Amino acid sequence: MLEKIEQLIAEINNLKVQSAEELEALRLKYLSKKGAINDLMADFRNVPNEQKREIGQKLNELKNLAQDKINSLKEAFEAKKAVDEKPDLTRTAYPVELGTRHPLNIVKNEIIEIFSRLGFVLADGPEVEDDWHVFSAMNFAEDHPARDMQDTFFVEAHPDIILRTHTSSVQSRVMEVSEPPIRIICPGRVYRNEAISYRAHCFFHQVEALYVDKNVSFTDLKQVLLYFAQQMFGPDTKIRLRPSYFPFTEPSAEMDISCNICGGKGCPFCKGTGWVEILGCGMVHPNVLELNGINSKEYTGFALGMGIERITNLKYQVKDLRMFSENDVRFLKEFEAAN
Ligand code: DAH
Repeated sequence: MLEKIEQLIAEINNLKVQSAEELEALRLKYLSKKGAINDLMADFRNVPNEQKREIGQKLNELKNLAQDKINSLKEAFEAKKAVDEKPDLTRTAYPVELGTRHPLNIVKNEIIEIFSRLGFVLADGPEVEDDWHVFSAMNFAEDHPARDMQDTFFVEAHPDIILRTHTSSVQSRVMEVSEPPIRIICPGRVYRNEAISYRAHCFFHQVEALYVDKNVSFTDLKQVLLYFAQQMFGPDTKIRLRPSYFPFTEPSAEMDISCNICGGKGCPFCKGTGWVEILGCGMVHPNVLELNGINSKEYTGFALGMGIERITNLKYQVKDLRMFSENDVRFLKEFEAAN
């Protein structure tokens, strides 16, 4: 019997398989109820007592070996099978839903990109601001209507703390800690106490630009505006400046671009005028420079501010402002191609 066991051990050590069927046949041959090892187990009871110990140990060794060998052959065989059966590269990919960038972010990034080509660097400031940075440091008179409860959200119990109503507060944040030359672009969210409708919201987004240096002139402003408008809306875009008023600029202007929907011929969007307003701008008021620690005899500057929603509406003709904050995936998906 010992001989028979030794012979099986040698046989099993040299096993090789080519197919799953072969492997299963071997398993049946050695390990099944009617297999060779079970036969030996059955014979074991006839072994004389003095040999039981030695043969018992050998028999166990054989059984473990057979089990380990069949298992490892099975593993090796399955690994080889996985490599042999190459994946089908023509199969459609697992349907992963890709997100899209928000249209306001697409436009914001484009604005930043255009200004960064002119050397403007990013700056930002807090949305929860104090009265000083939003109004006083921007040369708003004490009784200016914009400070009114009607327009501004106040933090209860802290009448000095408000939600910023424009990104112009970042002009002050930057000027108070830096020396000219200053050339910054500041995108951000702003808040106004307005009833929500298709054309107004209690929050929206602006981009502010500020350039302060020696000898900055209105001509520099005009060149930057023209460059921006043509980069943003196409090389045929025309601009026009209308005199306006802001407390923080003097002189102040509003800029219109030739309506990019009708090409300037006149349509409902531009109310038949051929022009649409896109931003406010002007030469930084000397008071603003002084209030923020910059010598207005030595330095001049220009500033401009625009609503990102407005620019986005013009580019993509979104008719209802509320769409921007409703997170309706069907709306957001429409901007997939612009990503
Ligand atoms: N802060 C103005 C607003 O919210 C926009 C603006 C106008 C910004 C003129 C400027 C500027 O920097 O020069 O309506």
